[in-house]
Amino acid sequence: MIKKICCIGAGYVGGPTMAVIAYHCPEIDIHIVDSNNERIDLWNSDNLDNIPVKEPGLSKIISKVRGKNLFFSNEVDKYIDLCEMIFIAVNTPTKTSGEGKGMAADLKNIINCAKQVSLASKSDKIIVEKSTLPVRTAEKIKEILENNKREKINFEIISNPEFLAEGTAIQDLFKSDRVLIGADQTESGKIAQNKLIDIYKKWIPEEKIIKTNVWSSELSKLASNAMLAQRISSINSLSALAEKSGAKIDELSMAIGKDHRIGNKFLNASIGFGGSCFQKDILNLVYISRQYGLDEVADYWHNVVKINEFQKDRFSQIIIRNIETSSNQTVSVLGWAFKKDTNDSRESSSIAVTSNLILKGLTVNVYDPLIKINQIYHDITAYLEFKNINQKNITRLLKKLSVKDNLNDCIIETDAIAFLTEWDKFLNIKWDKFSKNQHIKNKPKIFDGRGIIDYEYVSSLGYQIYQIGNGDNSIN
Ligand SMILES: NC(=O)c1ccc[n+]([C@@H]2O[C@H](COP(=O)([O-])OP(=O)(O)OC[C@H]3O[C@@H](n4cnc5c(N)ncnc54)[C@H](O)[C@@H]3O)[C@@H](O)[C@H]2O)c1
Repeated sequence: MIKKICCIGAGYVGGPTMAVIAYHCPEIDIHIVDSNNERIDLWNSDNLDNIPVKEPGLSKIISKVRGKNLFFSNEVDKYIDLCEMIFIAVNTPTKTSGEGKGMAADLKNIINCAKQVSLASKSDKIIVEKSTLPVRTAEKIKEILENNKREKINFEIISNPEFLAEGTAIQDLFKSDRVLIGADQTESGKIAQNKLIDIYKKWIPEEKIIKTNVWSSELSKLASNAMLAQRISSINSLSALAEKSGAKIDELSMAIGKDHRIGNKFLNASIGFGGSCFQKDILNLVYISRQYGLDEVADYWHNVVKINEFQKDRFSQIIIRNIETSSNQTVSVLGWAFKKDTNDSRESSSIAVTSNLILKGLTVNVYDPLIKINQIYHDITAYLEFKNINQKNITRLLKKLSVKDNLNDCIIETDAIAFLTEWDKFLNIKWDKFSKNQHIKNKPKIFDGRGIIDYEYVSSLGYQIYQIGNGDNSIN
């Protein structure tokens, strides 16, 4: 029985997954470690509103386990040495330089972890890959562990990819569709696999725990994300066709989704997928496919990302086309998080759309219930830098951006309102009251990137609306 777990990486995966294990396994002490001191301080904050990952239900669980059997620390080496099982849940973003730039996963953090585990360990360890990794990464980790180790000890590497979705992480972890555990089919590999299974069995029914070899497990995670993203790009590509042909994408989604072979999940047309995973994992899949000489496979998956870019760009261009860009018009962007109920804005569509708007000279007001002002400026700056815009121009462009701390201030005087995150709060806008203060000519145009506006009702109040995939749009 495992008694002590160390998790390297106190992020969106490490924090919630370890909190849920701690909750279900009070007999196991869990130490989450991270090299980011500020993040660790926030996890240890007395005020649970300050924990760095916002997920429905997370702070309640943290309040129950923190200080009992769940601990946050920056003493990485100490807890590596102390624990028998080490989860690696560090970030693996797309490479920004060197070979594979813009496509391959950057394994720098994984390599550093492997070295650190190897150097700090004085006893046998089971290493669990929790981060999403290219297929056959376990081989590289093993090599690093063996080459750097100081003691005559054994490292067993198992793959246990995480399938949680941000915004529903706790729910997903409590009731996982499946838990995948890939291990070497050796005697020691199977023992390690069973030790991890014993942990999950505390709350996951055994039939949902899938045992595979390491490579199937690593590849399954990339493939799952690619297939989810593919559905989004499929419906989004059809949304463009629906608009042109007079069809309605929600009717199409319903008709398609009723086929039980297809199913109705992930068929909502939108501004496109964001988040730290889908794009990076598909690009990684594309890169790996090319490395194996499978160009057709690579091209096929690359198009999923290309359609996503097309959708964000198409939406931006529709706003720009319909708003006078010469007389300093304002667009209110509602939502910065990549989806509702998370404080994560990585790869959010709002970043690309807002950048496109300010680059065209429009003024943009932004409101998001959870994302802090510094993060919004940071996201835009990083995006513009990536587009090779120089610092002087970035400073000039940022003057066009204004972040509001309440919804009303964001939309009260504006020429257009663009819905980019499907926050529940936006469903409660009182359009009738709002409309009374506005002369018909001054009513902002509405651009609904999330299909959350009651089109008929809001148009009946005199608003012009563009809604993704709606063939009846009064704006196009
Ligand atoms: N976010 C998701 O929804 C999600 C879902 C499933 C899988 N994943 C995968 O899980 C992994 C982690 O994702 P995340 O969203 O939690 O990332 P994150 O950026 O939120 O957290 C990663 C943490 O690791 C820390 N870290 C990096 N290198 C370190 C090192 N050498 N030593 C100590 N700490 C280190 C960072 O400081 C950071 O706090 C990624 O591979 C991701 O693809 C993410």
